Amino acid sequence: MSQPDRYVVIGNPIAHSKSPDIHARFAAQTGEHLQYERLLVPLDGFADALGNLMKSGCRGANVTVPFKLEAFELSSQRSERAEAAGAVNTLRFDGTDIHGDNTDGVGLVNDILCNTPVRIKGARVLLLGAGGAARGVILPLLAQEPAALCIANRTVAKAEELAERFQQWNAGKSRLEACGFEQVAPDFDIIINATSASLSAELPPVPAAVFREGVFAYDMMYGKEPTVFMRHAASHGATARDGLGMLIEQAAEAFFVWRGVRPDTGPVHNALRAAL
Ligand code: ATR
Repeated sequence: MSQPDRYVVIGNPIAHSKSPDIHARFAAQTGEHLQYERLLVPLDGFADALGNLMKSGCRGANVTVPFKLEAFELSSQRSERAEAAGAVNTLRFDGTDIHGDNTDGVGLVNDILCNTPVRIKGARVLLLGAGGAARGVILPLLAQEPAALCIANRTVAKAEELAERFQQWNAGKSRLEACGFEQVAPDFDIIINATSASLSAELPPVPAAVFREGVFAYDMMYGKEPTVFMRHAASHGATARDGLGMLIEQAAEAFFVWRGVRPDTGPVHNALRAAL
């Protein structure tokens, strides 16, 4: 049998990455002949690592913290969703070309659309945070044509900048606006936590009334236990979901970019959930 096609996930740190497990499961399920490994790269060694990977015949890479911006800069071609995100998490090597893509936002949207009964079209969506994670999901969210997309952030100016930047992709179909956490009105259907507050067990200080029955609250973070954001939302009657599905769906989209095949994410989600 021929050598398997090689892919890697690049980051620093990288030991915790679940991507090799996810892609090994996708490959086994679809019969795609590939090998997928973690690659720890020094903080100043990303460009060299890419060069070496391309020379060695590697077919593509996922990119994680802290290299997503460098991956964006080094890409010779970029998808529209990568341009909008200003970051790249998926690279496809094609001769001397480096195709940069970003599958994070589609991962979030697909997790909501395919794995929950929630519909984004026509919904009022509140996005908490205005950093890299938030920016990466705005274009795919707008593509679903929500009635409103409000970006709320601790540093309000960053939320305002994002709202202004994304007007060019909005086509007037959604009310796109920005505010501070304290000013958030209690009339949203979907609340997405894209802040890193959960990492320090903190909550974005939005009014408690924002969470109520009928609200769907999504935290991009995940862990063995529900995050503090999920517990807070659920205690006020909202339905809460963590970001494990987003992780798996963004990987499935990367797998599709590389192989042209869509894996079945359900069994992979169940296996990873059980192993948390
Ligand atoms: P990431 O790539 O995870 O998005 P980032 O670009 O550093 O990381 O952005 C972190 C986001 O979480 C920002 O929106 C940040 O708010 P500021 O822009 O005001 O810094 C937000 N954030 C981090 N810690 C927070 C906390 N304890 N409460 C509320 N928001 C927080």
